[in-house]
Amino acid sequence: MGKRKEKRRSFSILSLVVVALFLGGAGNASAGGGGDAAAMAELSRSLTNAPSDWKPGSDPCSPKWTGVSCSGGRVIGINVRGVGLAGTLPSSLSSLTSLQSIFLPGNQLSGPLPSLGGPATLQEIFLDGNLFSSVPTDFFSGLSGLQKLSLDNNPLSPWQLPDSFADCPFVSVSLSNASISGALPDFFDRLVSLQSIRLSYNNLSGPLPSSLSQSPIGELILNNQQGPKLSGTIDVIGQMSQLSLLWIQSNAFSGPIPDLSNLTSLQSFNARDNALTGIVPTSLTAAATLQNVSLSNNHLQGPMPKFSTSVSADIDKGNNFCLPQAMPCDIKVMQLLAVAAGFGYPSMLAVSWTGNDPCGGWFGVFCDQKGNIVTLNFANQHLDGFISPEIANVTSLTKVILKNNSLTGVIPNSMTSLPHLQLLDVSYNQLSGDIPNFASTVTVVKTGNSFGSGSSGGGSSGSTSAGSPASSPMDGNGESKSSKGIIIGTVLAVLVLVACLACGVYYLRRKKKMEKLKRVQMATFPEQLEQVKIGNGAVGSQLYTDSSNVESTDTTIHLDNNENVISMQELRKATNNFSEESILGSGGFGVVYKGVLSNGIKSL
Ligand SMILES: *[C@@H]1O[C@H](CO)[C@@H](O)[C@H](O)[C@H]1NC(C)=O
Ligand SMILES: *[C@@H]1O[C@H](CO)[C@@H](O)[C@H](O)[C@H]1NC(C)=O
Ligand SMILES: *[C@@H]1O[C@H](CO)[C@@H](O)[C@H](O)[C@H]1NC(C)=O
Ligand SMILES: *[C@@H]1O[C@H](CO)[C@@H](O)[C@H](O)[C@H]1NC(C)=O
Ligand SMILES: *[C@@H]1O[C@H](CO)[C@@H](O)[C@H](O)[C@H]1NC(C)=O
Ligand SMILES: *[C@@H]1O[C@H](CO)[C@@H](O)[C@H](O)[C@H]1NC(C)=O
Repeated sequence: MGKRKEKRRSFSILSLVVVALFLGGAGNASAGGGGDAAAMAELSRSLTNAPSDWKPGSDPCSPKWTGVSCSGGRVIGINVRGVGLAGTLPSSLSSLTSLQSIFLPGNQLSGPLPSLGGPATLQEIFLDGNLFSSVPTDFFSGLSGLQKLSLDNNPLSPWQLPDSFADCPFVSVSLSNASISGALPDFFDRLVSLQSIRLSYNNLSGPLPSSLSQSPIGELILNNQQGPKLSGTIDVIGQMSQLSLLWIQSNAFSGPIPDLSNLTSLQSFNARDNALTGIVPTSLTAAATLQNVSLSNNHLQGPMPKFSTSVSADIDKGNNFCLPQAMPCDIKVMQLLAVAAGFGYPSMLAVSWTGNDPCGGWFGVFCDQKGNIVTLNFANQHLDGFISPEIANVTSLTKVILKNNSLTGVIPNSMTSLPHLQLLDVSYNQLSGDIPNFASTVTVVKTGNSFGSGSSGGGSSGSTSAGSPASSPMDGNGESKSSKGIIIGTVLAVLVLVACLACGVYYLRRKKKMEKLKRVQMATFPEQLEQVKIGNGAVGSQLYTDSSNVESTDTTIHLDNNENVISMQELRKATNNFSEESILGSGGFGVVYKGVLSNGIKSL
């Protein structure tokens, strides 16, 4: 005991000398030094394969233990990388009250991560590539100085990012392949210094939180979620003005790529293997800083985007561009896409609307013999969004049926200029405003909306469909439509019949063609592209190379011979379609089947 005391005193003196010589400050050096020795001794005892000079009882700072850095006699860093350190981390680490850095990646450390409960001095923790088993729920509590964290590639039990995560002043966080489940918490507005966050290969699901719009994140890596995957739209990306790298591939995102013109330093954009729809915005194709873009295996529509030759682009496989080349699409295609844009480019339309001929069996689109679009029927399709005023560009329309959806906004005035319009059925939506003044030849079925008092109510239904007496008592479920209704019904039935017949013919023709053509490999194997895209070292972590083949087994199905390859994405598209009962209901079922098939073939 006397010896210990003496040792302690000499240690204190040494500390004071060090302080005098180098720092001239640190008043608590002597007090903490002993604590540091005890905490380091406990650390050493709980490890196997610790460096040989990590002797419990010796001062870790004098002489300094291998990999230990000190300042003023206090341990400020523990840095031992990839030497096979095994054992556990004790919670006594929290008594290292000057500790700034724990850097122990690539070892075999196991057991739960310690509850540190501080220290506030701790700025970085690198424990990636170990064998840790769990993250305690209070792990982030009290780490009020933590700026950098890496826990990639640990076999952790499933955990969720706790709210206290956002109390740390993080600059960079790397938690890929770390068994994180649940939703991304909506706390990014609190992470005001966050530059980079990597969360790939976890089990995250749900939408991108809206607080991302207030985040200064430059590097957002969310690719390859396992399980239900991240989903919803990527609209919020359009407000992340500091973003330079976005990797969201292999998720379940849908809807269009937003206007990216505020992202003035965007370099790398990887959204392949999702369910994105719509037209690729020029704000992406024209982004001056862009180096890499990957969009394959979505349902992107419209003209094939053309990127500058300096951009490494992977865009053409497994999308629904109107043509395989970057050429103007048929005007009818562009007009219909403008209509679909109002509905947020729903997947249901995107998977069916392939190729450059809307009269070739596009869902809900019916043409006359001259190839004019005469009817749009999107009844019962769960559509939301609004009726695009550009619907009036399709001047040949005679019938527009939008009943039983969730459309909001108004009936655009422009529709009154449709010269051949006979029927506009918008019943059972959430439309509002005043119904425009349609010609007396137009029947407007408006039941089940909240149109303004100006034009709704008992009397006005007559005025909006003036001259068509049969259509006035709309509120009775439209049942009293009498002869006119029957005629419309008959016409529709005939149209559906004709469409079905056309489909049959189309299908047979397609089938024949399919048998004739030798199938060429449809899309580059997802795993190959993952390797190309993920494996490049720009962002420098072995995770992205290691992980490249993870999804290979479940995203491709090898058919009879190795030239016939269809990605799971494609099959998913198909099965989604098949499960869409509503499509069946409106008589377009066969059409949708054709659309999928022809897509598969056309994109060869
Ligand atoms: C992912 O999380 C879901 C719940 O969101 C769970 O049912 C599933 O088992 C998890 N999958 C994996 C691979 O951990
Ligand atoms: C771009 O940023 C400005 C200013 O914050 C905002 O008003 C505008 O709506 C943004 N544009 C897009 C396309 O998000
Ligand atoms: C629709 O018509 C308007 C007015 O002529 C035009 O500005 C717009 O580009 C057209 N939209 C499409 C998709 O053709
Ligand atoms: C409305 O659409 C939904 C979804 O397609 C369908 O289940 C329901 O039967 C429809 N209701 C009517 C009245 O057609
Ligand atoms: C873009 O791709 C090229 C080649 O594939 C690669 O060298 C570069 O590092 C990538 N850049 C980014 C930012 O990913
Ligand atoms: C995830 O980490 C485990 C070790 O915990 C490793 O075996 C596996 O290869 C990693 N997976 C990926 C996709 O990197």
